[in-house]
Amino acid sequence: MNIMVIGGGGREHAVIRKIKENPLASKIYVLPGNGGMAQDAECVNISATDIPSQVQFALTHEIDFAVVTPDDPLVLGAVDALEEAGIPCFGPRKNAAIIEGSKIFSKNLMKKYGIPTAAYETFDDMQEALRYLETAPIPIVVKADGLALGKGVTVAASREEAMAAVRDAMEGKRFGESGARLVIEEFLEGPEISVLSLTDGETILPLSSSMDHKAAWDGDKGPNTGGMGTIAPNPFYTKEVAERCMQEIFLPTIRAMKEEGRPFQGCLYFGLMLTKDGPKVIEYNCRFGDPETQVVLPLLKSDLLSLMLAVRAGRLKDYRVRNREGAAACVVMASEGYPTAYKKGFEITIPEALREDVYVAGAALKDGKLVTNGGRVLGVTARGQNIREALAKAYEKVEQIHFENAFWRHDIGHRALELEE
Ligand code: AMP
Ligand code: GLY
Repeated sequence: MNIMVIGGGGREHAVIRKIKENPLASKIYVLPGNGGMAQDAECVNISATDIPSQVQFALTHEIDFAVVTPDDPLVLGAVDALEEAGIPCFGPRKNAAIIEGSKIFSKNLMKKYGIPTAAYETFDDMQEALRYLETAPIPIVVKADGLALGKGVTVAASREEAMAAVRDAMEGKRFGESGARLVIEEFLEGPEISVLSLTDGETILPLSSSMDHKAAWDGDKGPNTGGMGTIAPNPFYTKEVAERCMQEIFLPTIRAMKEEGRPFQGCLYFGLMLTKDGPKVIEYNCRFGDPETQVVLPLLKSDLLSLMLAVRAGRLKDYRVRNREGAAACVVMASEGYPTAYKKGFEITIPEALREDVYVAGAALKDGKLVTNGGRVLGVTARGQNIREALAKAYEKVEQIHFENAFWRHDIGHRALELEE
């Protein structure tokens, strides 16, 4: 089979490695990919959002199956365009990807179908939003409606901060059109759990639970990032919590999407918070998470390509997900200054023995050498019998990888370890 993966980060690298385990995957292209994954797939210089060029490429390269991973092409309708051209895809159509593309859509969906989430109001008028904030309980959370590169959420500790976030989005147009409408919602507390699931719209199969670490620096300090490290499984996700999530959140969500005439096929990501009143949805993503995928797929024993094809065929009810024993941890190595300003172009050295454990996100090949080319440069994953062992192994590997200006968090998994002890 000729397979085409759209995207270019660590998540795509993990998806490609896992797909390659199936001998049916004879040829894999990645659009655009990055220099660090050139050994695993053929990188094609077409951007993840250039949908017409993707369709053209698929037709001229006899692509049998396309896997669309990032949020923006999904929300823009890449799957619709490819399917219309006769290319079977893994990933939701545009009318289902809206579950991530519009927070107002997803909040209204949850309200309509009784799916537990933070209480909220929506606004398209700045004065109204500011007036609401004059008396709203603090802390409070301000969210841009549309995609905002993971930066559209402000957890405001004061009224002034919340008002500044509203002005920034609506007057300053910090997120462009994505911030023209806002959700202002109740502040929730509790450990966070990510659950990536595969669904064909009827059946839903959760993969291993995981925990992301979004803050840039140790101690959960500093600016929010795309994710600085992950562990899986998430120890807060007990059997009882999992069963509640299935009955109160997962099944109701896919039934709601079907009911709305927007059946969801692909990877549906549940960002959950385990509050004292039970699990609640913080956000939905219409795709694999990054860097959750870099721990969830190494723990997956089942064949990913078969599962993806079953999702596309609507036959997921005949499948099971099996995971490996133990745990996995991923530590992201980033460029000093990320997520704000950082330098690029430094040579990366990875010992050959570690190659299979490294998922490359922001790197390029320059004169045959791998150099840094992004904020999050790579993720280093290790498996172990438990989280402590997986983390120790991952950190041991991190010490053996070098590039100038590298930084990483030293406390990935700390909350999980505290709970285990
Ligand atoms: P998101 O960009 O939607 O993933 O949100 C970023 C982060 O903001 C989440 O991972 C949470 O830590 C935090 N967050 C979002 N919504 C809430 C909420 N209602 N209460 C508390 N924290 C929240
Ligand atoms: N790691 C969170 C996300 O992929 O959105």
